Amino acid sequence: MDDHDQTKKPFRLRSQRWFDDPQDPGMTSLYIERQLNFGMTRAELQSGRPMIGIAQTGSDISPCNRHHLALAERVKAGIRDAGGVPLEFPVHPIQETLKRPTASLDRNLQYLSLVEILHGYPIDGVVLTTGCDKTTPAMLMGAATMNIPAVALPGGPMLDGWWHGRLAGSGTIVWEARKKLAAGEIDYEGFIEMVAASSTSVGHCSTMGTALSMNSLAEAVGMTLTGSAAIPGPYRQRAQMAYMTGVRAVEMVKANLRPSDVMTKKAFENAVMVASAIGASSNCPIHMVAIARHMGVEHDLSDWQRMGAAVPLLVDCQPAGRFLGEAFYRAGGVPAVMKELLDAGILHGDVMTVTGKTVAENLEGLGAPDREVIRSFGKPMKEHAGFIVLNGNLFDSAVMKISVIDKAFRDRFLSENPDVFEGKVAVFEGPEDYHARIEDPSLGIDDRTVLVVRNCGAVGYPGAAEVVNMQPPAALIKQGIMALPTMGDGRQSGTSGSPSILNVTPEAAVGGGLALLKHGDPIRIDLKTRRVDVLIPAAELEARRAAWKAPDLVHKTPWEEIYRSMVGQLGTGGCLEPATLFLNILETRGES
Ligand code: FES
Ligand code: MG
Repeated sequence: MDDHDQTKKPFRLRSQRWFDDPQDPGMTSLYIERQLNFGMTRAELQSGRPMIGIAQTGSDISPCNRHHLALAERVKAGIRDAGGVPLEFPVHPIQETLKRPTASLDRNLQYLSLVEILHGYPIDGVVLTTGCDKTTPAMLMGAATMNIPAVALPGGPMLDGWWHGRLAGSGTIVWEARKKLAAGEIDYEGFIEMVAASSTSVGHCSTMGTALSMNSLAEAVGMTLTGSAAIPGPYRQRAQMAYMTGVRAVEMVKANLRPSDVMTKKAFENAVMVASAIGASSNCPIHMVAIARHMGVEHDLSDWQRMGAAVPLLVDCQPAGRFLGEAFYRAGGVPAVMKELLDAGILHGDVMTVTGKTVAENLEGLGAPDREVIRSFGKPMKEHAGFIVLNGNLFDSAVMKISVIDKAFRDRFLSENPDVFEGKVAVFEGPEDYHARIEDPSLGIDDRTVLVVRNCGAVGYPGAAEVVNMQPPAALIKQGIMALPTMGDGRQSGTSGSPSILNVTPEAAVGGGLALLKHGDPIRIDLKTRRVDVLIPAAELEARRAAWKAPDLVHKTPWEEIYRSMVGQLGTGGCLEPATLFLNILETRGES
């Protein structure tokens, strides 16, 4: 690792080019002058101490990350004690549950806002505050593009929620409550009360949804301190971790330890393994591929199929299991899972992490986990629990989360041949169309129907809507049919336990095969060959393709138009394609 060998070449901090450049006193004076007006002193600015940015993702409209406003004080204390100078700054906010039309539209905007700040301001290293779903990938993507010393600080999950004496996990309880409402078991008041029961304290979603999954993968890929991902938001250990993360950021600048030293191909492979073992959100493949592309690392969906599909599920967390973030943390959290995988010989132990040590070194001397929550590799919750990556005559790629397929679903749909399902499609033009028509008896939806939703991809519903986990019509739910196979070019919430075929690439709005489906078309899903095919003659499919016209997209904001003009598909990370060409900006553009 001579890249960050300090003895090799003493380096001048980039912040000194702003604050201490005797060759250009005019600019230096301007840079210093306004930084003084809130009490900063010239001595601090010219001390030659690392300036450490704290990328603040919390605000009143981002409740999942709002706790970072308080945690930042502990980060600053750590930075000061380690000999650095903290500079907290806001980035474009994202709140998963509040932003219309989709929070994922803003992942790339938060990424851009971070890159622009890190590039344009005197920052030597950065603490990335992560939490709510898209904030974690956005922060890691920005750190990857800039490649300055960076360490992530997750905000942690909320405390466990309870409803009528049992655990109420964020998001997951919503899907259950909707079914109870549809079945007439609860009314509107009861519905809101049930959903609200999951919101207990500061912190992000308590289930193994996208937030806890992506923070766990930030740790797995080496970008957080060991054990940081799962500490609940209100715990004292969370604030202590904030302090230690601040300390570490300064040390990383002194050691010149950069994202490119940490987020290597092997590190992404480790993240794939951990994703399967924790039962991670179906949004994780999209985000990890995006981070890797911004890092310039070759990593795509084929790695998820090749390495992750056969890995067992070890963690008993909702939606694939029973528990929530608090139990996961107390049972040992991400380090316990990584140790299990390392001992099984499927994790790379020799990759560098932000701690300055390797994965194997970080896990040395770790005690045994609570087996109620984190199972052993030899006795997992489920075998072969990763994602499978599908293709066929309708699309190039889609993912399916195997860990959430329960026995009842398998038995009902896959009994004749455990891997093949044949049925007819009911096609919806988007979530609004689904809600308007799902109860229409003339659609003839029965227990052999595949529900398909289209126009929900990165371009179609800008950002890609989380809508594929459609529930059956109320009449079927009342008969006890709680789920149908679903497929779509959108995404689904990581808190959903629905075994959907998701993230279909290319999407309908750019002419992907879903655009060509007609209501009632026969379809075959074969999990063994990992193919989905519409069973109509190839000539008919081609005729429909020739007749297809691109939809008129209505841009509601300038950003929607800019985003749509340059976003790629979900299968390749949903990145702003031109941005993926900017690698290691400071060095490749002569500004290091
Ligand atoms: Fe923010 Fe789930 S809504 S973490
Ligand atoms: Mg979500």
